[in-house]
Amino acid sequence: MDYKAIKGTKDILPGESYVWQDIENKARGVFSSFGYEEIRTPVIEETALFIKSVGENTDIVSKEMFSFVDRGERNISLRPEGTAPVVRAYIENNLDKISQFQKLYYMGPMFRAERPQAGRMRQFHQIGVEAIGSTHPALDAEVIRLLAAILDSVGIKDYSLKLNNLGCADDKKKLSGALKEALSDKEKALCDDCKKRVKLNPLRVLDCKNENCKTIIRGSFKAAKFLCEDCDAHFKEVLKYLDSLNIKYTIDPYIVRGLDYYTKTVFEVTHGSLGSQDAIGAGGRYDNLTSSMGGPAVGACGFALGLDRIMLALEKTSGEKAQKPRLDVFISTLGENACSKAFTILDALRSSGVSGDMDYEKKSLKAQMRTADRLGARFVLIIGEDELARGEAVLRNMATKEQASVKFEELVNTIKERAK
Ligand code: HAM
Repeated sequence: MDYKAIKGTKDILPGESYVWQDIENKARGVFSSFGYEEIRTPVIEETALFIKSVGENTDIVSKEMFSFVDRGERNISLRPEGTAPVVRAYIENNLDKISQFQKLYYMGPMFRAERPQAGRMRQFHQIGVEAIGSTHPALDAEVIRLLAAILDSVGIKDYSLKLNNLGCADDKKKLSGALKEALSDKEKALCDDCKKRVKLNPLRVLDCKNENCKTIIRGSFKAAKFLCEDCDAHFKEVLKYLDSLNIKYTIDPYIVRGLDYYTKTVFEVTHGSLGSQDAIGAGGRYDNLTSSMGGPAVGACGFALGLDRIMLALEKTSGEKAQKPRLDVFISTLGENACSKAFTILDALRSSGVSGDMDYEKKSLKAQMRTADRLGARFVLIIGEDELARGEAVLRNMATKEQASVKFEELVNTIKERAK
């Protein structure tokens, strides 16, 4: 074979695409029950959008974007995440003029040039929400409840939720400054990434995965004491709302998230089956993003779930997966005349709402029955020369193996009735 899928991307084949559809359908159901509406934004955006929102010194923007200059000399990137595009669309389309508060969801591919490994792809898929236009702490709790409701609906169990409060922009500045100071004489002992982070984006040292960095940072620094009264009160309210729904969580002062736009509440949901890439979803509040991008000063909160990781967790825990959709009827034919007749019968069946298919490969009857089996057909309709002459077809129930002859003109009604 001359061509292969690009490293870190994969084909989702019919053997599993129905499971993806099932998860997406369940998520859609949950979204509408929470009052969220779908938004679809382009896969390509101006590179500057992500520099401004996600942050120039984040790993995503500095190392992982698929960026290019197009034929019109524009700097374009494949979207690495969904929040910035949705906020851009909110502002550009004046959605706040329709209603300042918008509850939006999206599903689709995102792109990050990370080193591929289990659970880490270069094209991956997110199901996400952005609730833009409110600073109410109940919204943080609703968004977290929504994430949990989706995981519950698709059958993911035993996940853990960790929360932290980053505070407002001022609090984050103080925290960054304190980190810089606390680590100033320990820089040499930190990993290469953290050495850079201390200079450019000190908060990120807090969630470094390197064990040595963890020990140094956690030993020399205790987080959480830089919160202003407002941010402290907001977080306490969020916890109260979560408690009122009996949502279990732990507070982890080292969660800072890899995107700069967060303020106040941040959270991560992990699943033990996933190994080192164990974050199945994450999100938080981003009260300054909309105004920093030239829009109204409104609070906002959201999350994204990794669909590829949901699939992995379902496989690893043999969670209840969707059943492959079955075909109502498969028509087996012998000879060209039977094929022509079957073609019109099939069309009539499909028009009446019965799902069906037929043989297009001139296979033997036995091989056609195997195809019917593979497609999970509940009934097989057999039409050969004899049946044509009699104006009827043999209808076989694949579960009971019962067979009956049915007149052509009665086929649609009979099958419709039996396939109910
Ligand atoms: P994120 O933490 O970068 O947040 O990504 C969210 C989820 O996407 C992760 O928890 C993970 O499940 C999945 N994910 C991320 N990168 C990869 C990858 N390379 N391969 C497979 N799965 C991956 C965001 O993207 C924010 N926009 C979430 C958000 C929405 N915050 C507020 N609103």
